Amino acid sequence: MGIRFIEKYNVFKLDSKDTSYIISIVDEEKFLGHVYFGKKVIDEDINYLMRINEPPYVPSKNNRDRVSFYDSFPFEYSTHGIGDFRESSIRVIDKNGHSEVKLEYKSHEIYKGKKELNGLPATFGDENECTSLEITCEDMYLNLQVVLVYTTFENLDVITRSVKVKNLSEDKINLTKVLSTCIDFDYIDYDMISLHGSWARERHVQRKKIGYGKQVVSTIRGESSHQDNPFIALLDSKATDDYGNVYGFNFVYSGNFFAQIEGCQFNTTRVVMGINPEDFNWLLNKDEEFIAPEVVMVYSNEGIGKMTRTFHDLYRNNLIRGEYKDKKRPILINNWEATYFDFNTEKLLSIAKEASKLGIEMLVMDDGWFGKRNADNSSLGDWFVNEDKISGGLNNLVDEVNKLGMEFGIWVEPEMISGDSELFRKHPDWCIKIPGREPALCREQYVLDLSRKEILDYIYDSIKKVLSSANITYVKWDMNRQLTDLGSLGLKSENQGELLHRYVLAVYDMMDRLTKDFPHILLENCSGGGARFDPGMLYYSPQIWCSDDTDAIERLKIQEGTSMVYPLSAIGAHVSDCPNHTVGRTTPFETRGYVALAGTFGYELDVTRIPEEDRDMIPEQIEMYHKYNDLVRSGDYYRIQNFSENNSFDAWSVVSKDKSEVLVTCVQVFERANYHSRRIKLKGLIEEKFYKNEETGEIISGGALMTAGINLTNLHGDFKGKLIHLKLA
Ligand code: DGJ
Repeated sequence: MGIRFIEKYNVFKLDSKDTSYIISIVDEEKFLGHVYFGKKVIDEDINYLMRINEPPYVPSKNNRDRVSFYDSFPFEYSTHGIGDFRESSIRVIDKNGHSEVKLEYKSHEIYKGKKELNGLPATFGDENECTSLEITCEDMYLNLQVVLVYTTFENLDVITRSVKVKNLSEDKINLTKVLSTCIDFDYIDYDMISLHGSWARERHVQRKKIGYGKQVVSTIRGESSHQDNPFIALLDSKATDDYGNVYGFNFVYSGNFFAQIEGCQFNTTRVVMGINPEDFNWLLNKDEEFIAPEVVMVYSNEGIGKMTRTFHDLYRNNLIRGEYKDKKRPILINNWEATYFDFNTEKLLSIAKEASKLGIEMLVMDDGWFGKRNADNSSLGDWFVNEDKISGGLNNLVDEVNKLGMEFGIWVEPEMISGDSELFRKHPDWCIKIPGREPALCREQYVLDLSRKEILDYIYDSIKKVLSSANITYVKWDMNRQLTDLGSLGLKSENQGELLHRYVLAVYDMMDRLTKDFPHILLENCSGGGARFDPGMLYYSPQIWCSDDTDAIERLKIQEGTSMVYPLSAIGAHVSDCPNHTVGRTTPFETRGYVALAGTFGYELDVTRIPEEDRDMIPEQIEMYHKYNDLVRSGDYYRIQNFSENNSFDAWSVVSKDKSEVLVTCVQVFERANYHSRRIKLKGLIEEKFYKNEETGEIISGGALMTAGINLTNLHGDFKGKLIHLKLA
């Protein structure tokens, strides 16, 4: 386990639980070659995999074909301009305007544990959990140092990578591209999974066959985006949820990213991931260092399901932090879909009164409580309470809510400024824009230039004032537009290409301050629904609002895609009213509860106005949440049937870590005429032990439940849901 340098073969061997990852220093020219990534092997020398003894031979044996060699060699970190015409990972512009980078191995260091990535979110682990390797390479011509950083996790099939680049020369160097991982795989017979979407339909699973050429998943929107999530998987074309090799790549970053799978001429496949080089140009002065964010790489030899469970374990234990890391979250009721902007103290208290009687534990006041905000066209930046609406002030409202035995949470959107705001009238130059051009509005708002410290400090202090003014225990941090008109008055022309990354760093800085100043606050990220559902955000907030689409049926696809990588404990999910505000669909209240149970669980409706029979069901749902949430938060998640594939029916389960208990959730989207009951096969149980069905009393072995299955009876009609709870008999 861990990481070893095997001097005899010039090999770095990185072993995690069932995974090996091997890097080799090719003697003669000191390139780093990628040897292997996959199921654990015991070998120390499998350098033959790099094919340096085949034509086109390694240059020291045949310099005549140096370019052909470069263009086929499995580089551990590909560089621009040398003759490797596949995707490069690093490119510069040096003082002479040249862009080539050529790296040679210099030294390395292996140590227990994992270092933080200065100012960036990253997975963490102590000396018993991880081992790290830093391989220092240099471009001797540029005097540029490139350190490849790896960590293996002992008990998980996880290897992380990041890159540090330092300018050791006297001259300025512009980094125009610096990706965080690059891996060459043999063969080309792979599929690719990505999570694609749009507003209200985030992270739908897309699986397709890869071919020759480049298939890209990326964003240039300044946020990780509704459209493409910073996740891709490369998998055997025959891999299923339960079988086959799967390699998952997830970027711990919340801004522009670039992920690409490239089918190459000699039937190899190159995977790269990192900050999108578009709109990126980072100036490195003498002795300055740039740190590229981390990519988490998960290998599974047991299909997509095991990859998912590995990501969940890693993120629950080694990424998410804070008081709520392993804790049940309070059941909240959010007033957004209940009132939109039309609320006041009285209205909120009427919701809270009814909600508290039903067992709901927290009231969250959404958008519209500050400045003069009665619609989405004003007041962002004016972070003081609108006393016309919140009569008696915030403290009074919070006190009243607390008196009902409920906690209080609040919505903020710190990164934005409305044209119609006191802040904008005072500081029209505080937004991101290009001098002389009219910046584009989006939801009638501009983006604050947080790369300027005085603006960041001002905004953070105004939010801090609000959070300190009352007993607030939850914050929903929203972000409702993409970044355009990229210009900053705080940056010199030679640094303008740094704006997007500096913006992301500033957001992280602000979140870091907030979580340190208010450790008791439960932070939920949000971006117009789920445009920032990424591991970078999870480092600061244990949960993220998944989508503005709260329809239980739409959520099946959204939550299936989201949970492919991110744990259920992180998925913001609420029961809302019907007809659903986004799609106009009416589903049973019960089913809405089952779907929200596979996330954080809460309500987003006017509890004083919903049908009585729905309201009457809330105490039962709350009991259900309290009964199952520990299991849902901490158990192993299995996909059983996917509505996205069969267009009729969905089922998933969560199995406790000790396999003593399983909760199965089924949603019959469309009823079928004249069939027997559906039968599903469970997963992850102990074959030779018996489980008791809590509802029917039946006692069935894990083996039978998994290989023969269980019948889903009493499901009649569209949109009907069902829970099955089994425990060791
Ligand atoms: C977008 C969020 O996703 C919604 O839940 C709500 O908070 C609105 N913004 C408020 O403007």
